[in-house]
Amino acid sequence: MSKTVLVSGGAGYIGSHVSVELINSGYNVVVADNMSNCDMTCFEGVKKITGKDDIPFYQIDCCDYESVVKLFDEQKIDAVIHFAAYKAVGESVAQPIMYYRNNLVSFLNILEAAKNHGGCNVLFSSSATVYGEAQDLPVTEQTPRLPATSPYGNTKQMCEDILRDVVKATAGSEGVVKGIALRYFNPIGAHPSALIGELPRGVPNNLVPFITQTAVGKRECLSIFGNDYPTEDGTCLRDYIDIVDLAKAHVAAVARMLDDRMKEGYEIFNVGTGRPVSVYELVTVFEKVNGLKLNYKFAPRRPGDVVAIWADTRLANEELGWQAERPLEETLASAWAWEKHLAEK
Ligand code: WQD
Repeated sequence: MSKTVLVSGGAGYIGSHVSVELINSGYNVVVADNMSNCDMTCFEGVKKITGKDDIPFYQIDCCDYESVVKLFDEQKIDAVIHFAAYKAVGESVAQPIMYYRNNLVSFLNILEAAKNHGGCNVLFSSSATVYGEAQDLPVTEQTPRLPATSPYGNTKQMCEDILRDVVKATAGSEGVVKGIALRYFNPIGAHPSALIGELPRGVPNNLVPFITQTAVGKRECLSIFGNDYPTEDGTCLRDYIDIVDLAKAHVAAVARMLDDRMKEGYEIFNVGTGRPVSVYELVTVFEKVNGLKLNYKFAPRRPGDVVAIWADTRLANEELGWQAERPLEETLASAWAWEKHLAEK
């Protein structure tokens, strides 16, 4: 019998791509989403891509414990992938209470329900932001976490620790919880079908949606934040991971949990490509692969940005049997195809 994976935040950008890969790998998917930062576009896209139009969908807020319990009562959940969270760094600085309440309470509710329903495998969507301005690059999973510079980043660290503690406390009990935290670097791009992708509300904070919106004429000009950093071309270095590759890492991690291949009850993996790419290089590749000129200018540094971060991916490569495959060119072509798909709608 196929196993069932609950994807909280499954109608969003990463959740929808993960749902597709899970279904394509033979898992049953149950989606929970409160639709606070998305519409039904991506969920409808998941159904189209997979040809599966009976995916159970719960429009619930994971901060409401009763709703989460009802879902666990109705569905036999073998694993949970928890995405449901707020994710805007700047907003979290302005509204810390809202961020802590939403991101912590929803995760606590998922864990409590999982524990009380005979235990579960829980995959938490964490972030490379936990490393801060790392001194030694690339970062391994052993690289020390630095104090978070925003409430958003802090919720990622806190949720990692909560998961670790719950795994420890439930070991050997009836409601054993096992956990994996995946630390994402910079997820970008869209599904090759161009039926699902990133749908930022308002002015995008992230680089690639800002680029595609500038190319399509929704924004006038891209500001490249800082060209006087101590890097080769003066712009920041990041590890841009293709969204479909990222989604496949989730399938590998879920399989590891469900097939009892974990070496510890709680494990952490970096999910990146291992290759640093500068902002300027990314813009250049985007222009070249899509055959267009982007309107951009150099602007002052953005407060809070780290100069450079990229992943040591060996642990994920070896233990998950996973590695990033899609070339940056293809990823940036997919991001543009998705923006054009949105423009035609
Ligand atoms: C990448 C690079 C910018 C916009 C953040 C969060 C992280 C994660 C992903 C998610 C930087 C530069 C950007 C622009 C630019 N969380 N840039 N002009 O900051 O690495 O990571 O998003 O949900 O936790 O911190 O990603 O895409 O914002 O920026 O020059 O208009 O692009 O300065 O060097 P970041 P980003």
